[in-house]
Amino acid sequence: MNKDFLKYQAQTSPYPLGMEVSHSSGSYIYDTKGNAHLDFVAGVSACTLGHCHPNVVAAIKEQVDKYIHVMVYGEYAQSPATIYTKLLADNLPAPLEVTYLVNSGTEAIEGALKLARRFTGRSEIIAAKSAYHGNTMGSLSLMDFEERKSVFRPLLPDIYHIQFNNEADLKKITKRTACVILETIQGGAGFIVPTNEYLKKVKQRCKDMGALLILDEIQPGFGRTGKLFAFEHFDCVPDILVIGKGMASGLPVGAFTASKEIMHTLSENPKMGHITTFGGNPVIAASSLATLNVLLNSNLITDTLKKETLFKSLLKHPKIKEIRGKGLMLALIMDSPETANVLVLKAKEKNLILFWLLFENRAVRISPPLTISEEEIKEGCTIILELLNAM
Ligand SMILES: Cc1ncc(COP(=O)(O)O)c(C=O)c1O
Repeated sequence: MNKDFLKYQAQTSPYPLGMEVSHSSGSYIYDTKGNAHLDFVAGVSACTLGHCHPNVVAAIKEQVDKYIHVMVYGEYAQSPATIYTKLLADNLPAPLEVTYLVNSGTEAIEGALKLARRFTGRSEIIAAKSAYHGNTMGSLSLMDFEERKSVFRPLLPDIYHIQFNNEADLKKITKRTACVILETIQGGAGFIVPTNEYLKKVKQRCKDMGALLILDEIQPGFGRTGKLFAFEHFDCVPDILVIGKGMASGLPVGAFTASKEIMHTLSENPKMGHITTFGGNPVIAASSLATLNVLLNSNLITDTLKKETLFKSLLKHPKIKEIRGKGLMLALIMDSPETANVLVLKAKEKNLILFWLLFENRAVRISPPLTISEEEIKEGCTIILELLNAM
């Protein structure tokens, strides 16, 4: 299969990991040779409830038997998306009430940027250095890495960058600014947590200047950091919340949520300010609903913090210089990029799935399913320590 995979399927790099997948269950992915791989990555924070959680599988099957797709987004009332967006609103602070469902994280970012420009009538967008918000043209324009952007120029104009956690930079937010967009916890940059009430200060500056604050929770959302949404740790409610990834436990999805007043502007003047065929797809909404119900009716979210403590207590080694992040969104910061690289590749040989981070080359990602057990955490950490000892 690998030969055809490399030949016919477009690749993102010359060296894909290339595991030949047979099936997956719980915290394990099984390859076609029958090996069980312990998953410390969860499809890059996407498989919130592990692989093929029974409630998710049942919800998908039940919906598939009823209807799969009936109309473009926003025309018909379909129960999975309707019940889901109401449940989401019930679990979000005011004024976050109305959710627009789309197909991916990056599309949700595009929608949020359009919404901020439409609502404020301004064009300037401020993003953080080392942020990652996706790879379509608008999301890519937010990135400050010229080497990843230059060949795709011209990109969106009127975008400026501030340093995450740097208060002095907040003066760059002015009455020209439509929105500031930040990841609540920076992912690709190395799982950097906001400090010293930074997010509250950004929100206040936005309020003073009439700009909107967009928080990208595509990675930290849905319980991964010990709260349903990471912004709850920092006492800062965004004007627009962007979600995706772990929302549907492994199906392609994204969404953005705002107040009725803000969101309303996308349906008028021009009407259909954002449109999508498959956004709110009933099968994906059913999977999202099952995921949210499991999260709300279990201890998985609070247990995330206990699991963070367990990881941190086990992963003590001279080659691990720091463990960043929160809950089950952790980055091991190694003593060198080489150590990080070798660890990821050697772990693969030991059937433990680890991964890199986009912009911090000393980092090794640990973002397992929230359902991972203590025994599985211990099993994986033992492999990591043995590999580091052998280096
Ligand atoms: C913080 C953040 N924003 C946006 C995205 C883009 O989401 P997607 O890959 O679903 O387009 C990602 C994906 O990794 C992400 O981590």
